[in-house]
Amino acid sequence: MKKLILIATLLASPLFAQVKEKVEVPYVPFPIKMGKGFDAVQANCLTCHSFGYMINSGKQSKKFWRGKVDKMIVHFKAPMTDEDVEIVTDYFFEHYGNGQLE
Ligand code: HEC
Repeated sequence: MKKLILIATLLASPLFAQVKEKVEVPYVPFPIKMGKGFDAVQANCLTCHSFGYMINSGKQSKKFWRGKVDKMIVHFKAPMTDEDVEIVTDYFFEHYGNGQLE
């Protein structure tokens, strides 16, 4: 029995190994633009995916952003009020828009 305990302790010891080197975490700038409407984005969009995921497609038209918001509601049942649809679309168009409405 004692042997078993010894073996088990030895097998488990790597779990308690400590990292000696200094661990450097790379700095990644995350371009979240705070501003009017961001709280609505936080409440309606970040429940399912990250912010970075949403802005992956770069600067887009207002129609594009509205289409994405509609897609989230139709396909993924994002629960949103009509008011928030406008606020969130305006937020994305203002900060990640290309100036084109269509
Ligand atoms: C109920 C979960 C859910 C919510 C809430 C949600 N999404 Fe999504 N979203 C998804 C899923 C699932 C995908 C991946 C779909 C795909 O790849 O077709 C996605 C993908 C996306 C994409 C990129 C992929 C594409 O379709 O081009 C964008 C942009 C996006 N969401 C924007 C939003 C915005 C803006 C909101 C807030 C209004 C939102 N999402 C809220 C589930 C959600």
